[in-house]
Amino acid sequence: MHSVAAIKDNIIAPYLEVGGSCRLYGEIKISGAKNSALVLMAASLLTEDKIVIKNIPQLTDIDVMSDLLLSAGVSINRKSNVIELCAKSLKTSELPYNLVHALRASFFCIGPLLARNGKVKIPLPGGCRIGARPIDEHISGLQALGAKVIIEDGVVEAKISNGRNKLLGSQVKLNCKSVGATETILMAATLAEGETIIENAAQEPEIQDLANMLNAMGAQINGAGSSKIRIKGVSKLNGSTHNVIPDRIEAGTFLIAAAITRSELSLSPVIPSHLEAVINKLKECGCEIEIKGEKIKITPKGSIKAVDITTSPFPGFPTDLQAPFMALMATAKGTSKITEKVFENRMQHVGELKRMGGSIQLNGNTAIIKGITQLSGSSLSAGDLRSSAAMIIASLSAKGISIIRGLEHLDRGYEKIETKLNQIGCNIIRKEPNISVREEVQQGIEPISCHNPKVA
Ligand code: EPZ
Repeated sequence: MHSVAAIKDNIIAPYLEVGGSCRLYGEIKISGAKNSALVLMAASLLTEDKIVIKNIPQLTDIDVMSDLLLSAGVSINRKSNVIELCAKSLKTSELPYNLVHALRASFFCIGPLLARNGKVKIPLPGGCRIGARPIDEHISGLQALGAKVIIEDGVVEAKISNGRNKLLGSQVKLNCKSVGATETILMAATLAEGETIIENAAQEPEIQDLANMLNAMGAQINGAGSSKIRIKGVSKLNGSTHNVIPDRIEAGTFLIAAAITRSELSLSPVIPSHLEAVINKLKECGCEIEIKGEKIKITPKGSIKAVDITTSPFPGFPTDLQAPFMALMATAKGTSKITEKVFENRMQHVGELKRMGGSIQLNGNTAIIKGITQLSGSSLSAGDLRSSAAMIIASLSAKGISIIRGLEHLDRGYEKIETKLNQIGCNIIRKEPNISVREEVQQGIEPISCHNPKVA
């Protein structure tokens, strides 16, 4: 039985109404990468000069990161997809719990603030729905660079305590290829004395994008994108202008949407080498992929065959596309096996796909999916960012209309997604519940039962 609060949320929160059995056509524009933009914004803390970042996606995560940097004293000027940041006069090295808790990526500020101010206080970001999200690798990396770190009452306090107010370059070997920890250590090391070597570094394209901007600011970084990164510390970093790379996860999401609706679709701009693992799996499923420069075209050939995937750090199959790909496998020909190896709790979309008629057996972090001809539209509720994308993808090909709630997750990571999809043949409406229902619920009038409105 749902709690009244949950029912209320369900009734008064905006939702998407998604028409099924749709065909996509034409070309879709890919936005700047969320997971690059966020860390690039944090890197602006490393210099007193102005940083201009272009191709910034308009997402709620970007809004929260902006608020967080404003709270530290960074001046910010934002016009559509361009943001100017200047951390000339930082007013504090202590970041507020409410913003750090709202956006885990806020933790990316710990390295730059420590390197710049010699001290930083930041609340533990805590876990989220997909996992515990520990930060031990970030902490041990900063300690290797000479920081003294205390964690007390949920707050991380880091200080440079070597009397020289500069971190000291060092050798750091990560126990796991953590994207965030690699980025934290990379940023902190740019202003350290001497050379730092990061071994077993994560190799995601967003790390390369960060290193490119830092080098343009005067840093001396070699090997970003490989598992061994060398950073020669410099005394200061300068301003720069940088273009965010295209979002490979958004691009992969739309490629999968084309495959599940058996549609021919072009996407640009993309960097094909960022999508190799996904492209290979889509080819294995029976899709033709044509690459011309920064444009990619997918053409499903006949039925989609079931294939197995196991997620792993780049260049492996990205964990952020596991949920969208499972939606595709739910209507593939045959049985597939999907294993999530990066996060411990990233299978929340399984329940929703089963509500749509999907035949999925879950055993821990391994799902066995028996493809069916067509899913059925249903009333769905997203629990995290990438499962919300999976539900949209599943709904596009399902029979009938689907209602998707939990848009606060979707809006974190997909810029204007329904506008983009409607421009290529979809029928998605973002709805605010009618005022009367909202008023009744807010006046405490018992809401109607939260049944599953399988709409014809
Ligand atoms: C980044 O998260 C991305 N977020 C995630 O995208 C992405 O899924 C993830 O990298 C993996 O590619 C941003 O860049 C803002 P990790 P991050 O540190 O850095 C363990 C999305 O949907 N670990 O590479 O937090 C951790 O538990 C989001 O856009 C430690 O054990 O990921 C996990 O199992 C979700 N100790 C694994 O490493 C640590 O100190 C990978 O985490 C850090 C991580």
